[in-house]
Amino acid sequence: FKPADLGGMSLTITAGPTREAIDPVRYLTNHSSGKMGYAIAEAAAKRGATVTLISGPTNLATPHGVTRINIDSAEQMHQAAQEHAPASDIFIGCAAVADFRPAEVAEQKMKKKDGEDDMVIRLVKNPDIIASIAALEAGRPFTVGFAAETQDVEQYARSKLARKQLDLICANDVSNEGQGFNSDQNALHLYWPKGDKALPLANKAELGTQLIDEIVELFKAGQQD
Ligand code: PMT
Repeated sequence: FKPADLGGMSLTITAGPTREAIDPVRYLTNHSSGKMGYAIAEAAAKRGATVTLISGPTNLATPHGVTRINIDSAEQMHQAAQEHAPASDIFIGCAAVADFRPAEVAEQKMKKKDGEDDMVIRLVKNPDIIASIAALEAGRPFTVGFAAETQDVEQYARSKLARKQLDLICANDVSNEGQGFNSDQNALHLYWPKGDKALPLANKAELGTQLIDEIVELFKAGQQD
């Protein structure tokens, strides 16, 4: 049992995948279910925090007490994050944001052409949402990222922590079956500039609770510096 001790604290959390339109009926996406981000949102709301959840398309119910903003694309998620993060104490980027989107979105459904056995879709880079929040000059929240890696987890996670100027990064090894994308369980390794901590395999609800404990502790320690 956790007391409602986070009253007065506000968090903005991103969760789920983004969808990048190709034409009116097709899109590029990934396997994120939203479960990890929703679990974090639920854990924070249970402790009395004000939680805004910016969510890509998922099949999940909105956790009790959480304000949910639905978006499809990375650009829409970026806009919603810019709007809500500066008024938040903590920003957590758990969404699996598509790094690229089609350069052009066809207005009509694209048709197969006789005699053409391949096609090329040119992609352009999406904005880096979490880096833009960490770079805010006014109202910068304590900024927590995730890193989905398949190898050299610590090295890649630490380089994302530094490159994106984050306060904390939560790495998951998504090459391990049964954890990470679209599973009910996960294991995280947290890295911050002065330390690290492993949160071993657990269901995402439990992990969300543990993660909120760690984030709040580091956030409060940062305020005392
Ligand atoms: O949703 P689930 O099925 O429960 O799965 C959870 C998860 C595996 C998706 C989650 O735990 C996770 O790792 N989320 C981040 C996935 C990811 O896209 O990682 P990344 O290493 O590509 O990105 C690093 C960080 O930058 C992330 O905080 C990401 O949200 C952010 N990012 C990335 C690209 C971009 N254009 N903008 C961003 O803000």
